[in-house]
Amino acid sequence: MRKIITKDGSITFFNEKYQESYHHESGALNEALKKFVEPCKITELARKGSVDVLDVCFGLGYNSGVAIDAAIKANPDCKIKIIALEKDELVLDKIKELDPDIENYNVIKEVAEKKQYSRENVEIKLLFGDARESIKTIKSSFGAVFLDPFSPKKNPELWTAEFFIEIRKKMNKNAVLSTYSCARIVRDNLATAGFKVISGPSIGRKAPITIALNI
Ligand SMILES: C[S@@+](CC[C@H](N)C(=O)[O-])C[C@H]1O[C@@H](n2cnc3c(N)ncnc32)[C@H](O)[C@@H]1O
Repeated sequence: MRKIITKDGSITFFNEKYQESYHHESGALNEALKKFVEPCKITELARKGSVDVLDVCFGLGYNSGVAIDAAIKANPDCKIKIIALEKDELVLDKIKELDPDIENYNVIKEVAEKKQYSRENVEIKLLFGDARESIKTIKSSFGAVFLDPFSPKKNPELWTAEFFIEIRKKMNKNAVLSTYSCARIVRDNLATAGFKVISGPSIGRKAPITIALNI
């Protein structure tokens, strides 16, 4: 995998099989914060006492890592529970090489190695395998969902109405799903799955992100 330094100085990689990079060139960590952690209101959930996240496509763990930092900063006593879905051992292996500006990246490194982490008030479980199958085994429910596959063109199986229906089944009422894509097909499929779909902010490019509300 070829290493890329994005515009905020954080590192990502180019995946040869998908012919896409793991993050936008405008900034990998900025993307985690602005496209996932902020739209999903992780800080607000932390202040209320508990943060339950479904991280669809864990990759280098930046979205989960930035979420943990934000939650602990907002409320050091909050309970954080993350279930992450990922199918590629190679990307998990890359985590060892990284030292991003994420205070709790040691947690992510342990998850990459042991597929779980449980200490004090932070609990993470990585379900390794195809997300379409793993999701059906989840018993818990979530207040926030990070939906971060490769693009709909390259990774179509994770942008279908069928998959979104499975995700929605695991979400609390008023929970928020956030994704970087604003493709018509993505928004139509989210609406078909029963979400209220709205535009989020535009980060690093003209197009807005997509927020799907389970109301
Ligand atoms: C854009 S990257 C995710 C970046 C990641 N969120 C981060 O913070 O570093 C997409 C990820 O989706 C994973 N993926 C693609 N198809 C999948 C599938 N069917 N099931 C599980 N993971 C999948 C890839 O292996 C890749 O790591």
